[in-house]
Amino acid sequence: MSDTLLDPETSRQWAALQERLADISARHPDALFASSLAAEDMLLAHAIFQARLPIKVFTLDTGRLHPETLGMVDKIAERYGVAVQVVHPDPAAVQEHVAAHGSFAFYESIELRKACCGIRKVAPLRRTLAGHSAWLTGQHRDQSVTRSHLAQSEYDSVFGLQKYNPLADWSSEQIWAVVRAFDIPYNPLHDQGYPSIGCEPCTRAVRPGEDPRAGRWWWEQSSSKECGLHESNLHAEQGEAVR
Ligand code: ADX
Ligand code: SF4
Repeated sequence: MSDTLLDPETSRQWAALQERLADISARHPDALFASSLAAEDMLLAHAIFQARLPIKVFTLDTGRLHPETLGMVDKIAERYGVAVQVVHPDPAAVQEHVAAHGSFAFYESIELRKACCGIRKVAPLRRTLAGHSAWLTGQHRDQSVTRSHLAQSEYDSVFGLQKYNPLADWSSEQIWAVVRAFDIPYNPLHDQGYPSIGCEPCTRAVRPGEDPRAGRWWWEQSSSKECGLHESNLHAEQGEAVR
C-alpha cells in the first residue's frame, strides 16, 4: 500500500497526478469527476478521496450497465465511505425511444445508436454539468486513435466548461501498476477480457492482442467510436489545435 511499490517513472506520474488534482480543485472548487467506474476512473477516485479533495464524483447509470459495473458504487462506499452520485436518464425520453425503436435499436444504425447514447448518457451529462465550471474524466491517450491528441486541459465547447483529463499521459500499464500497488478496487469484468467497459449490450470481451476498444460497439466499422461524451476528441483528430 505504498508508492515504494512503484517503479520510479510511475511514482513520478503518481506524484504529478496528485499535484494536478490539487491544482484543479483549487482553481475549480465545484469541479465534478465523471466516473465510468472502470479501472482508470477508480485510480482517479482513489487519488481524489485519499487527498480529501472537494471534487465530487458521479456516474451515469444508463440503465444498461453490467451489474458488476454498478456494483463498484457499493465498493467505493465500503472502501472510502463516499457516496458516488448516480445519475439516471429521463425515464420519459427512454420510454419514448424504446416504444418507437425497440430495446436493441442501437444494433440497427449508427443514428439510432447515437440517439440512445444521447438520451442515456449525453443529456444526463449535460444536466449534471450545468452550472459547474469544470469536469474531469479518466481518458488517456493510449485508449484510442481518437484520443491520441488528448489534452490535459481543454475548453469543452460542447458542454460549455473547462475539461480536465489528468490521466492523459498515463499508459494502461502504469494505471494497472498503481491499481495493484494500492489495492484499488476494480470492476471484475477487467479480468474477464474487458479492457474497456460501457453498456452491457454494447460491449464485448476482446481477444488477447486485439485493440482495447474493439469490444465497444463492435458491430460498427468506424475507428472513431465516441458516444458524444467526448465529441471534442473527434474534432482534435480532424486537426484542431490542442494543448
Ligand atoms: S466512452 O465515451 O467511450 O463511453 P470511456 O468508457 O472510454 O468513454 O470512458 C472515458 C471517460 O468518459 C471515463 O474515464 C469517464 O470520465 C467518462 N465516462 C464514460 N462512461 C461514463 C459513465 N457511464 N458515467 C460517467 N462517466 C463516464
Ligand atoms: Fe445505448 Fe449502447 Fe449507448 Fe449504452 S452504449 S447508451 S445501450 S447505445
